[in-house]
Amino acid sequence: STLPVNVTVTGAAGQIGYALLFRIASGQMLGPDVPVRLKMLEIPQGVKAAEGTAMELEDCAFPLLAGIDIYDDPKVAFDGVNVGLLVGARPRGAGMERGDLLAANGGIFGPQGAAINAGAADDVRILVVGNPANTNALIASAHAPDVPADRFNAMMRLDHNRALAQVAAKTSTPVGDITKVTIWGNHSAKQHPDLTQAVIAGRPATEVIGDDAWIKDDFVPTVAKRGAAIIDARGASSAASAANAAIAHVHDWVNGTPEGDWTSVAMPSDGSYGVPAGLVSSFPAVSKGGAWEIVQGLELDDYTRAGIDTSVAELVEERDAVQELGLLSAANA
Ligand code: NAI
Repeated sequence: STLPVNVTVTGAAGQIGYALLFRIASGQMLGPDVPVRLKMLEIPQGVKAAEGTAMELEDCAFPLLAGIDIYDDPKVAFDGVNVGLLVGARPRGAGMERGDLLAANGGIFGPQGAAINAGAADDVRILVVGNPANTNALIASAHAPDVPADRFNAMMRLDHNRALAQVAAKTSTPVGDITKVTIWGNHSAKQHPDLTQAVIAGRPATEVIGDDAWIKDDFVPTVAKRGAAIIDARGASSAASAANAAIAHVHDWVNGTPEGDWTSVAMPSDGSYGVPAGLVSSFPAVSKGGAWEIVQGLELDDYTRAGIDTSVAELVEERDAVQELGLLSAANA
């Protein structure tokens, strides 16, 4: 029988954790034949709630669930990790400056990166969900010098799916007929949702939509601000849709993207599309043989170029701020 895959989930007692763990254990992330061992990481105050979630996981009697462990120490939680979902993060508190937020998260993602460096399996794949996700991924990767940087992703799949949903609703098309949507840049309100390459049932999406003003004035801000709209409506942030996106991201990373389509993935730039090398920025990407490849050679019109540049400028600012705080040097783990 196959050895279980070690899946570490941080923030396991949180909202996203609650929506995520059951789907991992049911086989929706890695496939119906792959047993998983869940390694749940929480802060000490979250351990009791994580134990409650673990009891419910047991009560599902998932045939693929080979074990559950709960930790409050990242060193143990990441020992042997094959897939790591870094969900737990420090939210922005009242009156907190951006520098404070970045520093607080550096105090989480630096040590987690170091623990990954020390204990991860050779095939480790890390998806950072906790915000600010792109810069948290950069910090974790900086503390894991022995792990190839391309094993650290930040999640853009929720933004990508939100874009698909908006286009489907606007054009009365099933989501399955829409391909080649891209989210560029940072997972923030300054992301750049892009339909210039998108295809709806074989026709250019821009032609089917036929309404450039809708794309610029409605679609782009609706996708970029959807997280705030959910909080406003639900009184809590997106959790099930975020978990769903994490499941899909890892599924495609491991198993490949469908032929003829791509998805949006924040990963270390190799300089493609003028994005400074090393920044964890979102690109259109296909997964082949278990690794992402950035889709090359796309023609960018002026609007798209400007949108990417604005988002990347924000990532550069975040990187410079954490660099200044010493959060990118492994010695400060
Ligand atoms: P939550 O507050 O319900 O749960 C977070 C959990 O993380 C808590 O149980 C907390 O105890 C735990 N935690 C905090 N520090 C930790 C540490 N150092 N180690 C382990 N666990 C730790 O929050 P929720 O709703 O689950 O969201 C989690 C994160 O995901 C937030 O940062 C949120 O902004 C982000 N998010 C990202 C999305 C994306 O598309 N990239 C979408 C939605 C949310």
